[in-house]
Amino acid sequence: TRTPVNVTVTGAAGQIGYALLFRIASGHLLGADVPVKLRLLEIPQGMKAAEGTAMELDDCAFPLLRGIDIFDDPNKGFEGANVALLVGARPRTKGMERGDLLSANGGIFKPQGAAINAHAADDIKVLVVGNPANTNALIAQAAAPDVPAERFTAMTRLDHNRAISQLAARTGAAVTDIKRLTIWGNHSATQYPDIFHAEIAGKNAAEVVNDEQWLAETFIPTVAKRGAAIIEARGASSAASAANAALDHVHTWVNGTAAGDWTSMGVPSDGSYGVPEGIISSFPVTTKDGKYEIVQGLDINEFSRARIDASVAELVEERDAVRELGLI
Ligand code: NAI
Repeated sequence: TRTPVNVTVTGAAGQIGYALLFRIASGHLLGADVPVKLRLLEIPQGMKAAEGTAMELDDCAFPLLRGIDIFDDPNKGFEGANVALLVGARPRTKGMERGDLLSANGGIFKPQGAAINAHAADDIKVLVVGNPANTNALIAQAAAPDVPAERFTAMTRLDHNRAISQLAARTGAAVTDIKRLTIWGNHSATQYPDIFHAEIAGKNAAEVVNDEQWLAETFIPTVAKRGAAIIEARGASSAASAANAALDHVHTWVNGTAAGDWTSMGVPSDGSYGVPEGIISSFPVTTKDGKYEIVQGLDINEFSRARIDASVAELVEERDAVRELGLI
């Protein structure tokens, strides 16, 4: 029998946590044959609600779930973690400046990075979901010098999935016919969903669509502003779709991309495509045996170049701001 994988989830009592934990326990994070132990990390005010969620998890009698522990101390929460999903974050509230937002999140992600450095398992894989996800991931990574930098990733899979769905709706294709879509840059309104290398049933997606105005004025803003549209419609931010994307991100990282396809992940740049080394930016990546590689050699046209550069410039500003604040 396999040893259970330790999965730490922060923000476990939040709305994404609620949509995420039951599916982790039923095998959707790692695979239907991989037992898991859950380590829920909350702040003291969230402990009671997390205990309630743990009771419900017990009540499901999930065959793969081998234990649930709840903590409000990151040093305990990350002990022995093989996978860490950093969901809990400080949201932007009305009138909050970017510097305030970054420093509030620095207060969360810096100690969590340090706790991962000190206590996680050697094979730790980290996914940051809590916003601003890319820069929070950078803060955590900088606080974990003994962990290989590439183990810290940020979630752009929700944007990736949204883009696939929008492209399928426009072209009448099945989502499963769409391959090689890319989200570049920051998980923010500046992100760039790129269909120039994407394929729809084997044909170039940009050629199938053949409508640059739709790309610029409808597709890109619809994907980039989908989060706001969900809040407007639902009265609450995306939760089940965000949880689903987090499962997809880790499942793909661990189990590999299909031949001929790739996915999008926010990962530390190695300088590819002119993205400054070290910032955590979304790229096209292939994965195999628990490792990912940035897809190399793609031709970047002018339309794409301008949009990638704009989103990367925003990430560089965020990096400079957290550097200024002493968070990295
Ligand atoms: P929520 O407010 O419902 O839950 C957040 C939970 O985190 C709360 O239970 C809170 O007590 C907990 N928390 C706060 N600080 C913590 C800490 N230091 N340690 C442990 N837990 C802590 O928020 P929701 O809707 O679950 O969203 C979580 C985050 O995910 C937000 O930052 C949101 O912006 C982000 N998000 C990211 C997406 C992406 O595509 N990357 C998509 C959707 C949401």
